[in-house]
Amino acid sequence: MLLLDMHLNIGWNPFSQYALAFVALSWVWVLQLQRRRQQHIPGPFLARWTHLWLAYYAYRGRRYAAVHDAHQRYGALVRIAPNHVSIASPDALSVVYGQGTNAPAKSPFYNAFVCDGKPSLFSTRDRQDHSKKRRAVSHAFSSSALREFVPMIQLSVNRFTKRMDELCNKEEFFDALPWFNYLAFDILSDLVFGERIGMVDKGSDVVTINTSSSIAVNKNAIALVDEREHFSAVIGIHPSLQWAARLMSFLPGQQASLGLEELGRSQVLKRLSSGTNRNDMLGKLIEAHGFDGRGPSVDEIGELTAESVTLLIAGSDTTSNSVAVILHFIFTHPRVYEKLLGLLDQAAAGQKELSYEQAKDIPYLQATINEGLRLHSVNSIGLHRSAPSSGLVYNGHFFPEGTELSVPAWTISHSHELWGDPEVFRPERWQENTELRQYLLAFGKGPRACIGKNLAYIEMILIVATMLLRYKIEVRSQELQTTEGFMHKPLHFWIKLRSI
Ligand code: HEM
Repeated sequence: MLLLDMHLNIGWNPFSQYALAFVALSWVWVLQLQRRRQQHIPGPFLARWTHLWLAYYAYRGRRYAAVHDAHQRYGALVRIAPNHVSIASPDALSVVYGQGTNAPAKSPFYNAFVCDGKPSLFSTRDRQDHSKKRRAVSHAFSSSALREFVPMIQLSVNRFTKRMDELCNKEEFFDALPWFNYLAFDILSDLVFGERIGMVDKGSDVVTINTSSSIAVNKNAIALVDEREHFSAVIGIHPSLQWAARLMSFLPGQQASLGLEELGRSQVLKRLSSGTNRNDMLGKLIEAHGFDGRGPSVDEIGELTAESVTLLIAGSDTTSNSVAVILHFIFTHPRVYEKLLGLLDQAAAGQKELSYEQAKDIPYLQATINEGLRLHSVNSIGLHRSAPSSGLVYNGHFFPEGTELSVPAWTISHSHELWGDPEVFRPERWQENTELRQYLLAFGKGPRACIGKNLAYIEMILIVATMLLRYKIEVRSQELQTTEGFMHKPLHFWIKLRSI
């Protein structure tokens, strides 16, 4: 209706026709300019002319593979969109994701991830605004905060093993991926909002959201996260896609964003009205805001909502998908399984569980986790950055202000020069050569690297150790089918559990 009104108001008089022609010509001119600036860099023919080449593969969940193939064909520097150059070289990491005032900032790609109209720590692009936010949010990830979170995480893991015990020793395979998602969501909702959503207990991801119009609706929270992440990863590729998407609020990705915002807002409001002083992430964010007894403004509620939704999304399916992938690799590689189980058994001294304090000191467990993250490449795309106002020079190439640059994580994680045998699951490599750690891109690089990395390791260490000590897993297929939204994830994880 709105579109129709706009159309009628424009009324196609000569002026509007000239205006439209002017906009179209300017658009072509901008594209031409961008194309000429990077003309010397090869790339797929379509990608030289339009962002739709990249958007198409992102939509299909295969962007990392298309970009990887393009690098095999065209070399280390590839133009993957008219104004976007992908650099598949380890020495580009410190240039594209570097520190300092002249380092590239996040590109307009991240506008597509803005929640509730308020950029969060993840989607803030301005470097100074980001530093301020990062300082505030980092309270929630300090070593002392993480120490306080460990028992809370352990409680969620215990509830999870109770449910796994019920599914144990059954004849049929079941898809364990949703269960790991439930667990990660329970952990994160507990740590962020001070209230476990209870997906593991229910065996379901359906949550009741109190919308701003006071209507309670049921939604599948995990589907919302998947949908939103995929949608943002596609429309982020060009401002015109973001603009078009904004006009189409009926799209499932838009609906998913709204659903998550409503979930976040209702939890934030509930918490603020309860007056509870729990020392969780939201508690630390509220403290950092310093409301000093006054009620938060609408803007401040928006900021708290954006930040807490981001933490919930950024921290839940990333961790659960990683755990599923790591367990898949362990149980399809008997040599690694036997070696790791031997070390865990030794540390557990006959018990079926290990505390985080005990498990964290097993270097081979850490190496196995890193190897799973590398081989599957949870973060597989090249994270977008923009050349700064002074432009950027890499290896004799000058990239003017605004050129989008990225280093493709999948390609670096599977580089023969770096890893020698990149397709082999061999955790020992991390112990043989500690220098390799700088090339683990699962958590990003530089000032925008994952703030939740240490928390994610706590979860992964606890869950992987617990699963190995309690169960023997039979996987249905040696191959994992995967897709890619913003992150690269398995589609299923079909297993049978046997108690040990
Ligand atoms: C295995 C699990 C995880 C993986 C693979 C992962 C991966 C990443 C990556 C690749 C980035 C950089 C994104 C970019 O530059 O665009 C990132 C940023 C971020 N992650 Fe994680 N993450 C994980 C767990 C977590 C957890 C548990 C949390 C919090 C609860 C979290 C919160 C964030 C936030 C807030 C950012 C933005 C940081 C900033 O821009 O300063 N992540 N994560």
